[in-house]
Amino acid sequence: MTLAPGHEWIEGAHEAAPVGGVLPAGPPSAPPGRGCPHLRGATAGESNGQEGRRLRALGAAPVVELPGGVRARVVVDPGLAERLSAGPHVSRDAARHWPGYREGALSVDGVIAAWIGTHNALNSYGEDHRQLRAPIAAALTRRRVEAMAPEIESIVQDVLDGLDGLGAREDIDLVQSYALPIPHEVITRLLGVPARHLPAFSAAAAGLFDTTAAPEDVGRSMGTVLAILDQLVAIARERPEDNLIGDLVRAADTSESPLSDAELRDQLMLIIIAGTETTVHAIGTLLVHLLSHPDQRALVMSGQVSMHAALAESLRLRPPIAAVPLRFAVRPFEDARSGEHFGEGEPVLIHLAAAGLDPERYAEPERFDVQRAEGSRSLAFGYGPHVCPGAALATSEVVTAVTRLLERYPDVRLAVTPEQLQEPSSWISNGYTSIPGHLT
Ligand code: HEM
Repeated sequence: MTLAPGHEWIEGAHEAAPVGGVLPAGPPSAPPGRGCPHLRGATAGESNGQEGRRLRALGAAPVVELPGGVRARVVVDPGLAERLSAGPHVSRDAARHWPGYREGALSVDGVIAAWIGTHNALNSYGEDHRQLRAPIAAALTRRRVEAMAPEIESIVQDVLDGLDGLGAREDIDLVQSYALPIPHEVITRLLGVPARHLPAFSAAAAGLFDTTAAPEDVGRSMGTVLAILDQLVAIARERPEDNLIGDLVRAADTSESPLSDAELRDQLMLIIIAGTETTVHAIGTLLVHLLSHPDQRALVMSGQVSMHAALAESLRLRPPIAAVPLRFAVRPFEDARSGEHFGEGEPVLIHLAAAGLDPERYAEPERFDVQRAEGSRSLAFGYGPHVCPGAALATSEVVTAVTRLLERYPDVRLAVTPEQLQEPSSWISNGYTSIPGHLT
C-alpha cells in the first residue's frame, strides 16, 4: 500500500492482539501498568481542555474508561489525531468494525449507544460513507452557503430586534436569547423542519450530549428525537419539497442502495444535532473570548484582524465538540511516528479539545491570541474524510452573529467572570450552558 507523506504505518504490528471493548476485557495494546482514568469531561471542576492536558501527561493516546465501561484510546496528540482521522485504519462504523458489538456480544448503553447506534454519514466507513455524505455535502457547498448569506443576515437582524425589546439594563442570557435561536432558525429553514417541532426536539437532543446521564434518560431523549424525525421522514417521503430533507429523500431513492426510513431519519438526526448545539457553542464561546479580552476585541472591531481569525482562535482554544464518539481500529497497526500500537477493533476517541492545546503546536496554548504567529488552524471541525461539511455554514453564522451583536451593542459585557460560567456536563459538548450579560 502506498501512503501519503506523514501517514506511515507498520501493518500487522499486533496481528494476534485480542479485541478491545467493554470492561473487564480491556484493550490489549495498553502497556502494562498504564493508568486507565475515567473520562469525565467538564464535570470534575475542570474543563475538557484541562482534562486533556492531564491526559497528555500519560502519552499520545492513553487508555480511558468511557460511560458503560467502554475502554478507549483517547488521542490527545494533534499529529496522531490527524494521521488517524485521515488514514484508512480507523473506522466510525461500529456495526462493521467493533467485533464484539458487531456480533452482539458487547452490550453498550447510554451515551455511547446513542452516538454509535445510528447509521448515517458520521457512523460509516469507505464507500458507504461516501454515499451517505454526498447529498449532505452537496447542500452545504461554499457556493450554496454564500447564497444563504442574506438569509443568515436577516435571521440575525430579527434576533437582534428581539433583544432590543428586552429592555436596556436587564441582565440577559446570551445563550438562550442570542446564540441559540440563530442556528435553530438556520437549520429549520435549511431542512424544512416545521418550527413547532424544534423546542421539543432541541430539549431531547441536548440529552444526547450529557455524558453523565443515566442510560434510561439517554434512552428517553433518543426516543423523543427519533419519534419527531420519523414524522418528518414520513411527510417528506410522501411529498419531497425543495429543501434538504427533500434532497436527502431524492438522493436516497436514486442511490444504488436506497436508504430505509430509519437510515433517512438517522441522517436527519446527524445534521440537526451536528449543526445546532455546535454552532450555539461556537457563537457563545467566541463572544466570551472577545468580551473578556478587550485588547483582542479592539483588534477585531477596528478591522486589523478578521472575525474569521478570531473564530479560528476561539475554536482552537475551546472547540464546541471536545470529542466525537467513536472510532475503531479496522486492523492491527502501529503509527510509526508516535510508536503507538492499536489492536484490531480497539475503540479510539480523538480528543479535539486536547489537540487544540498542544504546547508543541501552539505557543502558550491557553492564551487567546487572534494574531498567533503559528496560526490558529485546529481540529475543531475534524480532519480527513469525516471533516465537518457544515464548516462554511457554521462560520458564516458565527461571524455574522458575533459581528452584528458587537456592532449594535458596543457596550455589551459579561455579568460574571468567564470562570463563573456554567459548562455542559459532557466530554462531547464543550461550551457554556448560559452566559449572563448586559447589553448596554
Ligand atoms: C461551529 C460549528 C460546528 C463544529 C465545531 C462542527 C464540528 C464537527 C466535527 C468535529 C465533526 C466530526 C468530524 C470528524 O469526525 O472528523 C463534524 C461532523 C459533521 N458535521 Fe459539523 N460542526 C459544526 C457545524 C455543523 C453544521 C452547521 C452542520 C450542518 C448543518 C454540520 C454537519 C456535520 C455533519 C453532517 C457531520 C458528519 C460528516 C461526516 O461524518 O462525513 N456541522 N462536525
